[in-house]
Amino acid sequence: MLKAPLLAFTFLAATMLIATTAAQPVDPLAPAGHWTGATAGRAATPPMGWNSWNAFRTDVDEAKVMGTAKVLVDSGLRDLGYRYVNIDDGWWLKRRSRDGRMQVRTSIFPSAKVGGSEGSSFRPFTDKLHSMGLKAGIYTDIGGNACSQAYDLHSPNLPEGTTAERQIGLRDHVQQDIKLYFADWGFDYIKVDACGINVYGADSPVVKQYKYNVYPPLIDQASINRTNIPAVRALYQQVADALAASNPDGDYVYSICAWGAADVRSWGKDVGNLWRTSGDITPQWSRMLHTFDSASTRALYAGPGHWNDPDMLFVGHGDFDVHHLTEARTHFSLWAMINAPLIIGYDLRHAPPALMDIWSNKDIVRLNQDSGGHQAVLAYDSDDVQIFVKTLSDSGTKGVLLFNRGLVPARITVTPAQLKMVGDVALTDLWSKKTMMLAGDALTLTLQPRESRVFEARGKRQLADGMYLSEIPGAINIARDGVTVSVPDPVIHRMANPWGTTTNGGERPTYAGWGGARADATPYDQALTVDGHVFTSGIGILANSRMEVKADGFKRFQAKVGVDDSTRNLKDQVVFQVFGDGHLLAQATAAYGQPAQALAADLADVKIVELVARNAAQTSDLPLVVSWGDAALVK
Ligand code: GLA
Repeated sequence: MLKAPLLAFTFLAATMLIATTAAQPVDPLAPAGHWTGATAGRAATPPMGWNSWNAFRTDVDEAKVMGTAKVLVDSGLRDLGYRYVNIDDGWWLKRRSRDGRMQVRTSIFPSAKVGGSEGSSFRPFTDKLHSMGLKAGIYTDIGGNACSQAYDLHSPNLPEGTTAERQIGLRDHVQQDIKLYFADWGFDYIKVDACGINVYGADSPVVKQYKYNVYPPLIDQASINRTNIPAVRALYQQVADALAASNPDGDYVYSICAWGAADVRSWGKDVGNLWRTSGDITPQWSRMLHTFDSASTRALYAGPGHWNDPDMLFVGHGDFDVHHLTEARTHFSLWAMINAPLIIGYDLRHAPPALMDIWSNKDIVRLNQDSGGHQAVLAYDSDDVQIFVKTLSDSGTKGVLLFNRGLVPARITVTPAQLKMVGDVALTDLWSKKTMMLAGDALTLTLQPRESRVFEARGKRQLADGMYLSEIPGAINIARDGVTVSVPDPVIHRMANPWGTTTNGGERPTYAGWGGARADATPYDQALTVDGHVFTSGIGILANSRMEVKADGFKRFQAKVGVDDSTRNLKDQVVFQVFGDGHLLAQATAAYGQPAQALAADLADVKIVELVARNAAQTSDLPLVVSWGDAALVK
């Protein structure tokens, strides 16, 4: 019994020895000389559209989807950008045993009944959507079975047949299914869920009761250490590769639905176009805060082509229904500001005008769809009040959102400095369209509980001829964030479990990513501070990190760098390096307790600046926090 692993170990040790003697170890912080951020797929701005789940769960059918599609076209929502019409769980009948070909449940999607050797096909369905100027999305699971097969057991639309026929997920069929969905059926978007690698373990009661194949879970949502992060990522990467192969024109969107588990908040950007940063949203205020918080501090991990996904919109339902328009507008505005995908989850065939007015607020949609792709950054944060600021790529305007999360009216004061502006600022309210002046030092507004105010701000920028890096997170790729241990993020609102009871001790932080890079804050949510000096602009990151910054058109990089006062590691020195298209331009060494040092470099024709912070000696494993204070690109 012991022999096989022992043999494997000896072989592994031998190969490692050969590898280390034959080749120099690769320096993980070496400059790439170019942008290494993922560019696959077609998601230059956050995807917009509709999905069947929040409206119908598994009770989806062709009439409902096509009725919705017609409303998207007739109401003008399509022309505002809502183009993707996505079917979620519930479309499948079975996997055909003869050749593994997936079959559509044609009793609910009649146009798929094509007969012949195919049996069923979604091609007529996607042709119809395409002829309407829309795009089509489909849903699957990364494992063998889907979420409905564990959680919607009373659904009439669960897959049918033998155990093998009910294996409708991608497991062992990645190439075949992706080719079928994209090359043959013509879909443009896929959401890949993760229940198949989460809830089908040997001891699961549904596995026994429904005779599903056992899949030892790769994800343990309660424990990041018991989650096999590399294995989960590798499975999602296989799908990414198959999508690229089946879509030579590159026109596809890949949505990773692993609920913030398996550290996807860190690697999602390198594998897919959007990745869920949390468990499911529900139409409850407190749950909306939870999913929002899971994405709102991750601005540096998103940008054109890759987006944090706090889940689909629940506007129209529950706490966000037509009787709660304050909450509905807030939910929508928050999603717009943090560049979340705007995926409507309502039965649009019966949508009252007050709700249509929300989705079709073109000014708020414009914030979300701005081509710069800069997710809003927190200018003020607390459990009660938040202020978000979002750089727009046009003539220097910004989106600003004031948010009262609390239970009582809040007086919120906003200053030009929080917008990184100076002097008077004109604020146009994007709901009322009225403009008011932020004249002088500050403007104070009173917001009702759950109210938000969204403005477009026009004024003189603090850096008249440049940009602080924290103003342009969409132009930054965090190639390495220095995080070596996956730690659950503790600063996310914890709603009482909407599906369970209050008997289990409480809701624990579970989404890894704590310690990741932050704009205008340290990785552990402190103010950027070096030797007592606070920087209101800058990037906070751990040492042993490398960032890539798009610098085209700028002449100079400048920053004040140092070890942040909040560091746990007080001993080690940091070497800060600035590279331009792979060449070393400037360097400084710093230690805890030393004042910030100026670091600057001229950028003649440089396309990509790389910022490396390296622990010089690594005598301690404690996290070494560094600040790139006032880091900016200047013209
Ligand atoms: C999971 C996903 C949801 C939805 C359902 C379908 O819960 O997170 O968005 O797709 O599965 O069963």
